[in-house]
Amino acid sequence: MRSMLAAALVAAPLFAGAGAAAPAGQHAGHHAATAPSSSRAGTPATSSRGEAHPANWPATHSIGLVDVATERRVAALLASLPLEDKVGQLIQADIASIRPDDLRRYPVGSILAGGSSPPLDSDDRSPAPAWIATARAFRAVSLEPRPGHVPVPVMFGIDAVHGNSNVVGATIFPHNIGLGATHDPALMRRIGQVTAEESAASGIDWAFGPTLAVPQDVRWGRAYEGYSEDPALVRSYAGEMIRGLQGDVAAGHLLQKGRVAASAKHFLADGGTRAGIDQGDADIDEQELVTTHAQGYLAAIPAGALTVMASFSSWQGRKLHGNASLLTGVLKERLGFEGFVVGDWNGHGQVPGCTTGDCPAALNAGLDMFMAPDHWRELFDATLAEVRDGRIPMARLDDAVRRVLRVKAKLGLLEPERPWEGRLDALGSPAHRAVARQAVRESLVLLKNEGGLLPLRSGAHVLVAGAAADDIGRACGGWTLSWQGTGNSNADFPNGESILAGLRTALAAGGGSVEYSVDGTHARRPDVAVVVYGETPYAELQGDIRHLEYQPGEHADLAVLRRLKAEGIPVVSVFLSGRPMWVNAELNASDAFVAAWFPGSEGGGVADVLVGDPQGAPRHPFSGSLSFSWPRAASQAPLHAGVPGYDPLFRVGFGLRYGQHATLATLPEASDVGGAVWNVDRYFQRGRAQAPWEFRMAPEGAIAMHAVDAGGVQEAGRSFAWSGTQPASLAIVGAPVDLSRQANAQLVLRLEYRIDQRPAAPVRLAMACTPACAGAALDVTPEFAAATPGEWQELKVKLGCLADAGVDMSAVSAPLVLATDGTFGITLLSAALATDGTGATCPRRAAVP
Ligand code: BGC
Ligand code: BGC
Repeated sequence: MRSMLAAALVAAPLFAGAGAAAPAGQHAGHHAATAPSSSRAGTPATSSRGEAHPANWPATHSIGLVDVATERRVAALLASLPLEDKVGQLIQADIASIRPDDLRRYPVGSILAGGSSPPLDSDDRSPAPAWIATARAFRAVSLEPRPGHVPVPVMFGIDAVHGNSNVVGATIFPHNIGLGATHDPALMRRIGQVTAEESAASGIDWAFGPTLAVPQDVRWGRAYEGYSEDPALVRSYAGEMIRGLQGDVAAGHLLQKGRVAASAKHFLADGGTRAGIDQGDADIDEQELVTTHAQGYLAAIPAGALTVMASFSSWQGRKLHGNASLLTGVLKERLGFEGFVVGDWNGHGQVPGCTTGDCPAALNAGLDMFMAPDHWRELFDATLAEVRDGRIPMARLDDAVRRVLRVKAKLGLLEPERPWEGRLDALGSPAHRAVARQAVRESLVLLKNEGGLLPLRSGAHVLVAGAAADDIGRACGGWTLSWQGTGNSNADFPNGESILAGLRTALAAGGGSVEYSVDGTHARRPDVAVVVYGETPYAELQGDIRHLEYQPGEHADLAVLRRLKAEGIPVVSVFLSGRPMWVNAELNASDAFVAAWFPGSEGGGVADVLVGDPQGAPRHPFSGSLSFSWPRAASQAPLHAGVPGYDPLFRVGFGLRYGQHATLATLPEASDVGGAVWNVDRYFQRGRAQAPWEFRMAPEGAIAMHAVDAGGVQEAGRSFAWSGTQPASLAIVGAPVDLSRQANAQLVLRLEYRIDQRPAAPVRLAMACTPACAGAALDVTPEFAAATPGEWQELKVKLGCLADAGVDMSAVSAPLVLATDGTFGITLLSAALATDGTGATCPRRAAVP
């Protein structure tokens, strides 16, 4: 590997003449974790790997989707559609990449708002009216009478995955992992209904949930989107959530009275990928597909699920989007699914032989609607041509369109009225908030309670500490207002309450009091400290980790707990996370420990359970119990009943109750992963290259590097001065990582910088890849020349542009290279991937010497 990278650096024209040294070889774990892209190669035609046998599966059937009246109506509509309109019904575009006007030329059947896509002409934090206006604008064009076109309304989908979670003011429920801990299927139906009412009120037709993944390895960044590692629990929830979202899909009965279409996702085995790698490969046998990963679908389909979303992932090396045996043989034929199968975000582009703009193989395999956020134009043209020349059989096209129309009809979209749209009093209504608060109470899992420290007397003086205590965004986690759930402030939750606010109210009511400080310092000695901390928000891709150690190599929250403990103050930990984590030291340093998951916007539910009455008797019980196994070691993954040597610290079903006496022995604190950090997206921050990345300058001596103070913080930046005596390059290097999914997700490379000396010659920005990406450099001279020297600036470059310029995103060995032949001075404050592409540029390709 050492020589490979050196070769890449030298081979890249940027490094012409640069005898770059290889990076230190300490990246073994990092390297091993890189997702293999072998599936791209596909499986040999002779192989039966990834070929399912429907006869081995239980049979089931959609109930309520097909009825005489609906089918008659759908058949008539189908017969009237020109070919272009039919093809359009099978394509879904993202509102960030399409305008209502475009529908006149490209009559796509559906639009979505991806996690990072704000309503038209607004931003992520826009209130519901902006969403309604967006939905109406697209709908209006889809319904316009035009010659040669039959109006069919677009269907508007969104990730309403824990409440109507993209819309400001909505009730935000605990993420599914917390709901799993409630073990309360009946509650799912009520949550589904609230989510549907708030979504329908906002102009939305379709929720991309529930996630029916059965995550077997919580290193997966989407583990929290799953209810449980236990298929039986997932199955017991699936039908209830579908019925809550959709209502009763009985024959002859239309929805759309405060209901939305559901999407059971991601079919199949998204939670079974090796090492919990997002979009990875589930290399398991067919039996395990049935007994573990399909269980939720066996309940969702008979409950009338109108749509199913195909998974990005592979089974036995074959991408689900191209697997006819699973999409058609199993899902549609054996499981009798009569709704439509929607793809995932450009997921069809990962099928061998396909691109994001052209993929007959997915349609022929059984996909009915492409999620084609940005390449809908190309896809429309290609699909139309393929239907015309027979590469897509007309019968397959008609079947897919019929399914889409059937769902639109069942949903009530073909009716003129939309009785719920605009009923904004539904958003965050007191009744809805009460359901969420109940869910929070039931989701809390008590792991330790030495000496019966909890419940707290309501008359106590309590120190509340921890950065998450007064941060509703952190309590909500990913898929909240923004895709990764980052960038939210309490003001973005007008109908929410922080955990701190809830504690204040409960203690004030009982004559107690609260002192709040993030770092645990206090003016008055408290009776007890409640420290609220845990994982910061994340979603797909960015949430993947390689081991379960909490705050590896840092342990900042542990330091707060220990300080309080050293003072003799009893400590309660409220731990927010999207998965069980290795927190032995934090458990040792706490007298009571509560796993609170990502509870959402009703922080008051935490105080309901933690704070008792004035005598210290409980007001609400602890009733939650684990739906995932809790690890005894940082390396203990995958961990679920059935793995050889299964020996968790706490099993599924564990959760202490009030009045129960249990002591937790002191736990070993030595990490078995040595604080190793896995990081594919943060390269330079807080004055340091972030492990495992490091700076490399070539040739030696041609660039002078210094730590500099910035923004009032000592040594927060690094300055680099090119002497100009010879061509030279600065790179941030490491072992190759796969950034292709990040490029697909439209992430940007973001630099915070200041120009110290204007460039005397062109400056090239690039990424290096293995074995080499010749010519893959962009010309950033205009950007740097326009920047006022001495002023902090931001540069965002779309990863897609680097990919188009020739960077092999599946093997990036240097995510940032800056090269120039003359004098140049720049100070970097940060270099990282970012999800917010606002203001991103696509510089033109550099003329490489
Ligand atoms: C979108 C998300 C999507 C992701 C796919 C993002 O840019 O906003 O909705 O899930 O890409 O990886
Ligand atoms: C995710 C889906 C999501 C879709 C739309 C994808 O990247 O995997 O779960 O529904 O984007 O945002």
